[in-house]
Amino acid sequence: MADAPKLGFGPFTAPDRGVLVVFCDEGLKFGPATAKVLGSAIGLVARAAKAERFTGKNGKSLGLVMPEGLKIDRLVVIGAGKTADLKPQDFVKFGGVAMGKMPSGASELMVFAELPNEAMTGEQAADLAQGVLLRAYAFDRYKTKSKDDDKPPAKRSVTIATGDAAAARKAFVAREAIAGGVLMARDLVNEPPNILYPDEFARRAQALKKVGVKVEVLDVKAMTKLGMGALLGVGQGSRRDSRTVVMRWDGGKKKDAPLAFIGKGVCFDTGGISIKPGAGMEDMKGDMAGAACVVGLMHALAARKAKVNVVGVIGVVENMPDGNAQRPGDIVTSMSGQTIEIINTDAEGRLVLADVLWYTAKRFKPKFMIDLATLTGAIIVALGQEYAGMFTNNDELSHRLHLAGEAVDEKVWRMPLSPFYDKMIDSKFADMKNTGGSRWGGAITAAQFIQRFIADKTPWVHLDIAGTGMDSRSSDINKSWGSGWGVRLLDKLVADHYEK
Ligand code: BES
Ligand code: MN
Ligand code: ZN
Repeated sequence: MADAPKLGFGPFTAPDRGVLVVFCDEGLKFGPATAKVLGSAIGLVARAAKAERFTGKNGKSLGLVMPEGLKIDRLVVIGAGKTADLKPQDFVKFGGVAMGKMPSGASELMVFAELPNEAMTGEQAADLAQGVLLRAYAFDRYKTKSKDDDKPPAKRSVTIATGDAAAARKAFVAREAIAGGVLMARDLVNEPPNILYPDEFARRAQALKKVGVKVEVLDVKAMTKLGMGALLGVGQGSRRDSRTVVMRWDGGKKKDAPLAFIGKGVCFDTGGISIKPGAGMEDMKGDMAGAACVVGLMHALAARKAKVNVVGVIGVVENMPDGNAQRPGDIVTSMSGQTIEIINTDAEGRLVLADVLWYTAKRFKPKFMIDLATLTGAIIVALGQEYAGMFTNNDELSHRLHLAGEAVDEKVWRMPLSPFYDKMIDSKFADMKNTGGSRWGGAITAAQFIQRFIADKTPWVHLDIAGTGMDSRSSDINKSWGSGWGVRLLDKLVADHYEK
């Protein structure tokens, strides 16, 4: 990936080169430090604003090249809109917009963290900085031939000018940890499937040891002993052995039950014997976005030393057609003891989750379990790329996740669970079958299937992230195919409710 820019905080001073970003409101008004540095260039801004019909609306911007009277190469004015309405997420977005205005050839960017009527707080300046990091990410590890004049300068630096650099630096520690988790998740999702197969995924998760996470890897032998027949059935057609990875961060009180996050980690989903059509199949390298989110979240929580006990458990497999692959008609026995008739080998994610969720509930007796999975195309039909589908047996978690999602702009929309859908997965030959039989309500029948593996009435949420985890909408803070969706959402959930 492109090297992250070197990020720092400093006082308001007039830069003598590079790009300067400043903020105005809907009256094109600037704060005092900004006005002082702009000096007579304010008249140029007013003229340009008129010509470009720039009115300072939230997130819009105006660019001036080499404004007279200033030594900089470019001045960018970002509209903050009605500044009384601004929420933390607006500042993250502004950081993204600012970074997006750094031309590829520029090596220095300075952002004035000042609003017309009030100084930005340390938190707000730190939010800007987080937005810069999220926007600066690019996955170009495998581009060997980019022309020299396309390449960004080797050393890029971004300085956030603020009235209280010490406060901003302090507030940035946690935000940097969270951004680091998002970028880690994006990297995992973007990696090609020949490089990132289950065992390699497990190795990458081991890197979390550096931030104090305990990492344990279960191999095929260990999972066989546990009776994880549902997960193992999915992986049996692959030359790459399956893994389950258990990650633990113990930042809370010793006796406190942990929160549990579970991820679907299908490193590549061909569909298996029920093979997928060729067009677009390459996207199925991202079928481990749920697991990637869990790894990124563990990084975020550990790196910011969250005061909470958390376990992350991911089932990592590859779904391939092969002489030894699972067949439609096969009946497998899950760790729970329940038997499953395989109708379609392409409905593999729920099989992986079935065993990993059962295992997590039984071993850790968590306060709750939240699973993330690129589980169904049907959820994309229902919700597009804007909301993830949320299924849950717990109204409080539903409410909390809804609010956290709105706050960080990783939104979830609750979908129904009910006995009516549940009976659609009853099987003639086994306890259940792995598809609903028709395509109708496909995201719901998948969730019903998973619910049958929630032991001991554990509070549980299933997030279907097929529309948001990869190839999702681009935004001011994300231009990457793998979005890292969910890290910020779940970090926010934990921070708001479980670190007391
Ligand atoms: N990984 C896919 C779901 C998916 C589709 C994710 C598109 C991202 C983009 C999942 O394993 C799958 O194949 N689901 C099937 C289920 C069906 C066979 C019941 C689907 O959605 O078609
Ligand atoms: Mn599939
Ligand atoms: Zn899949």
